[in-house]
Amino acid sequence: MRKPIIAGNWKLNKTPHEAIGLINELKRELVDVEGVDMVVCPPFTALADAADALTESNIALGAQNIFWEDAGAFTGEVSGPMLKDLGVAYVIIGHSERRQFFHETNETVNKRLRAALKHGLTPIVCVGENLAQREANKTFDIIKDHAEGSLSGLSAEDMKKVVLAYEPVWAIGTGKTATPAQAQEVHAFIRQLLIKIFNASVAESVRIQYGGSVTPENIAALIGQPDIDGALVGGASLKAPSFAAIVKAAQKLEIS
Ligand code: PGA
Repeated sequence: MRKPIIAGNWKLNKTPHEAIGLINELKRELVDVEGVDMVVCPPFTALADAADALTESNIALGAQNIFWEDAGAFTGEVSGPMLKDLGVAYVIIGHSERRQFFHETNETVNKRLRAALKHGLTPIVCVGENLAQREANKTFDIIKDHAEGSLSGLSAEDMKKVVLAYEPVWAIGTGKTATPAQAQEVHAFIRQLLIKIFNASVAESVRIQYGGSVTPENIAALIGQPDIDGALVGGASLKAPSFAAIVKAAQKLEIS
């Protein structure tokens, strides 16, 4: 049984003060939760305060990106040792917004992924097709390309430390969720790919989150699918009640 993992991707939202406020609310709402990995991913500027606010809580801290070099003349970048030193445990890599707006490619995703693993951070690697690609029946080709390219050269042992997120770009921030069946179909395809690229034991153990307009209303049906192991939540992670409700729905499933 794979442990569910619910991560909040705050994107470009929340000042440090706002982050502390949201985390304090989340801590109150989620103090009794067990059996679900919970992660919040504030912007870089709020990570230090978020780490303080999360001290001794059951919620882990994640970043939204990582650069592949540890230090040097790379203006504007943030490295693994810097994140690690703050108490960051997870890092989102290759989000579609990074691929779309910041020229992220499978190659740069792969470099960031290796840097995260090198520094003991758990990577959350995102893959997903856009609307045009889905309509052209290219979904599986795109997923295969993203997975093979992003995960290239990883050992089976390293792959077991990675979390994947399937995020259909057309469902992100649009209110248009993939149906549980649509999501399950792609998740099952990803698991088959993991068997081919790595082996059956990797495929069995890697957690695959779904992301794209996840809400307290639709989470139960999504996470009820056999290959959906959690969610990467954007909009609904910015308010404590909705994020907590999503986590609790995942927990209910875990207990039942
Ligand atoms: P959304 O974002 O939940 O607002 O659609 C999800 C994501 O981009 O990770």
